[in-house]
Amino acid sequence: MKHPKLLVAGAGGLNGRLLLKKLAENNIPVRAMVRNKESTKELENETTEIVEADLSNPATLDKAFDSIEQAYIVTAVHPDAAAYFSNFFQAAKKAGVKHVIKLSGLGASADSPSEILRQHYQSDAQLTQSGLDFTVIQPNSFFQNILGQARAIQRKWRFGMLLGEASQSLVDMNDVAEATVRIVQDKSHRNKIYPLTGPESISGNDIAEQLATFLEKPVRYKPVSGTLAKQEMLAGGLPEWNANALVEIMELFATGAFQETTSDLENILDRRPNRFADFVTENRAVFF
Ligand SMILES: NC(=O)c1ccc[n+]([C@@H]2O[C@H](COP(=O)([O-])OP(=O)(O)OC[C@H]3O[C@@H](n4cnc5c(N)ncnc54)[C@H](OP(=O)(O)O)[C@@H]3O)[C@@H](O)[C@H]2O)c1
Repeated sequence: MKHPKLLVAGAGGLNGRLLLKKLAENNIPVRAMVRNKESTKELENETTEIVEADLSNPATLDKAFDSIEQAYIVTAVHPDAAAYFSNFFQAAKKAGVKHVIKLSGLGASADSPSEILRQHYQSDAQLTQSGLDFTVIQPNSFFQNILGQARAIQRKWRFGMLLGEASQSLVDMNDVAEATVRIVQDKSHRNKIYPLTGPESISGNDIAEQLATFLEKPVRYKPVSGTLAKQEMLAGGLPEWNANALVEIMELFATGAFQETTSDLENILDRRPNRFADFVTENRAVFF
């Protein structure tokens, strides 16, 4: 295997796995950073090598960065996320990395009502002021979030979201991964902050209507309250901090403040980003 010059942190998560797949399709050698090599063996292939490191332990990062020129980081929603990013940027700088790509979130700002978006702002600012070349990717919420409700949709033709009657310019995680590959390959994307959205703004009722048409079933949307959403997350085993932070950000989405669309994703991909209908078509098997 050609020696990888690209490090991907958070490689075992949802965004990381998709990115690895797209990099392999483009024959780009990569070193995938995971916390547990044993449980992520399947990520290894002809173009992907695995390194074990922990973002909360800076001493483990030097080995991961050995001979690396470009690095990408996504990490979990976590109270210490800003410290994880910080450790990664410092290790990148120490290793002489040229370009760091960070997965952030749309609306990251110092005074956001969402702690997740304030954390992202802090880390985005740290990266853009680090002296490293950077690209900050700020996507809106992903279509893929609804996949967690696929079984309820199959069984009861019903789903719930904490979005009220608002609409949101949701985006396809696949498109974001594909855009990331372009950002890796093309130097013109350096030192840019990209707010990425889908091509349209859709509400819970729009989603229900599209699923109903596609599946030929009477699919219904029911807005969910913050209290109920939190109860369900805690019952599903999510830690309290995460449940609070997720309810907080979703209540922000429900104000309708995330419905604008941007042209950045279309410009990077050089095609129209996927619509929700494209996503449902591609995931037909999951909903049936
Ligand atoms: N969901 C959305 O709609 C949306 C939209 C825009 C932005 N985002 C952003 O996307 C991010 C979440 O992405 P995701 O869904 O891909 O997350 P995920 O599936 O939870 O994966 C997170 C990854 O981070 C790794 N990680 C966690 N703690 C670590 C540590 N201490 N050291 C090394 N690695 C660590 C995890 O490794 P292990 O496998 O070892 O646990 C995992 O691979 C968040 O920053 C969120 O704000 C999400």
